[in-house]
Amino acid sequence: MNAESLEGTITWRELWAETSNLIGDRAHARWLCEVASGSVDGDEFLARLDEQATERMVGHLDAMTTRLRAGEPLQYVLGEWSFRRITLAVDRRVLIPRPETELVAEVALAKAAAVGPTRLVADLGTGSGAIGLSIAHELPLDSTMVWITDASTEALDVARANIAGLGPAGVNVRVAHGSWFDALPAELVFDVVVANPPYVAVGSADLEVSVGDWEPHAALFAGPDGLDDIRRIIADAPARLRPGGWLVLEIGADQGDAVANLLSSAGFVDAEIRRDLAGLDRIALGRRP
Ligand SMILES: C[S@@+](CC[C@H](N)C(=O)[O-])C[C@H]1O[C@@H](n2cnc3c(N)ncnc32)[C@H](O)[C@@H]1O
Repeated sequence: MNAESLEGTITWRELWAETSNLIGDRAHARWLCEVASGSVDGDEFLARLDEQATERMVGHLDAMTTRLRAGEPLQYVLGEWSFRRITLAVDRRVLIPRPETELVAEVALAKAAAVGPTRLVADLGTGSGAIGLSIAHELPLDSTMVWITDASTEALDVARANIAGLGPAGVNVRVAHGSWFDALPAELVFDVVVANPPYVAVGSADLEVSVGDWEPHAALFAGPDGLDDIRRIIADAPARLRPGGWLVLEIGADQGDAVANLLSSAGFVDAEIRRDLAGLDRIALGRRP
């Protein structure tokens, strides 16, 4: 594609076909074309198939296609990705929100929804804001407060941009920088603390190459067994939860037994390890007595 020579001469139907040939994936090509055409959704894009693209739009599509062909993950190339009911800006400063994390958010949401009349929630290591902003978005506006934290100031910049796009629920979100519970005001105790911390063992052979190549290493790795951050959070959580409050963690598929033991040793009750849709251990939860 050559943006300058194509202005006013090529339709989105032709660009979609051409992009599909270049990247070998018609669905991904459609997503690129949707974003490049400025369509708000797939229906709007389909309605515009016979419209001609502007030079700027073709240039944008060109740039995205080049990045995708260089191996960059689709989500970073698009610059946005859906998580539960919200769309989040994402780039290389944050982990790409995963479908299994939607289940972690769902468990935290259910625990927080059961608390009343008001609830205080913390999402530690928020990255793009996926879990914390979903909780703020899905729970009642007048009775929910969510603190989101991260040790990465770059990640928090992305999360702040996502708060700005969240709509009315954004006023219920507070942002704090720092390591795990240290980021939070000392006087606060929470009804629910949720985290998807780094949990990959350093040197793990299981990590997909593109994840290690493109996503922030500070979001992935946690010591020789992948449990360094989970240990820290579980050790500190009882002092920062109100009695009866819940800790909800995303964990690695091979960490269920170890994390169940850590929760029991820290005094949590009703500890449970739940599986994801692939049948793998993925969510650990426990209640402060
Ligand atoms: C696996 S990512 C999860 C991001 C997001 N919560 C999600 O589910 O998509 C882990 C996040 O924890 C953050 N992190 C790493 N070490 C941290 C620490 N010591 N304290 C707070 N956040 C930390 C990383 O910057 C990253 O954003």
